[in-house]
Amino acid sequence: MEDAGRQAHWENVYTTKGENEVSWFQQSPAPSLELIVQAGATRTPAIIDIGGGASRLVDNLIEQGFEDVTVLDLSGAALAAAKSRLGADAERVSWIVADATTWEPGRAYDIWHDRAAFHFLTEASDRAAYIARLERALKIGGHAIIATFAPDGPEKCSGLPVARYDSASLGRTLGATFKLVHTQRHEHATPWDSRQNFQFSVFRREG
Ligand SMILES: C[S@@+](CC[C@H](N)C(=O)[O-])C[C@H]1O[C@@H](n2cnc3c(N)ncnc32)[C@H](O)[C@@H]1O
Repeated sequence: MEDAGRQAHWENVYTTKGENEVSWFQQSPAPSLELIVQAGATRTPAIIDIGGGASRLVDNLIEQGFEDVTVLDLSGAALAAAKSRLGADAERVSWIVADATTWEPGRAYDIWHDRAAFHFLTEASDRAAYIARLERALKIGGHAIIATFAPDGPEKCSGLPVARYDSASLGRTLGATFKLVHTQRHEHATPWDSRQNFQFSVFRREG
């Protein structure tokens, strides 16, 4: 999908639907939080949530004392919703409105988190552009936590086709620089109580 069409799609979603009217809403982003805590166990990590949207992950990270948190999304409306929910705490977060396939990272992070953004990249050229940014923005020894629909998950998300992965196929897509260190399936319950199978994969950047 063209960048402009992609952005228009997501702005429309976030300006017409409430927080719990989207299938990916989670009251508590527990699997992501657990994996971030594990990956950043002994230090104060710099974390970026790619395609973070209006997710409550950022609220939880601030509440748990993480001090260096960035949320990137191509929808300004999504980030505005998250900022408004956070109130004064929004100033403790860096917010970036950008497309993850064209963004120019200005710094490096210890943890790259992506729940349900990468799987929208169904064209090889978009995946390559995303991975080039991942390689630039993730420190050596840092962790990429990427959650996509699993091979037996839905074929579409928000009306758009997705690419589904298990940890092996995602690892092949990312390339040898990224070593798989953990994988787990997660059954997500949508706000209307249907089930979606996700695969969470954690990779360490080796070089
Ligand atoms: C299914 S939602 C998931 C949102 C959030 N990660 C969560 O778990 O609640 C996908 C998000 O990815 C964002 N997105 C999709 N394609 C993107 C891209 N190429 N660059 C940046 N964000 C993107 C959308 O705007 C949307 O907020």
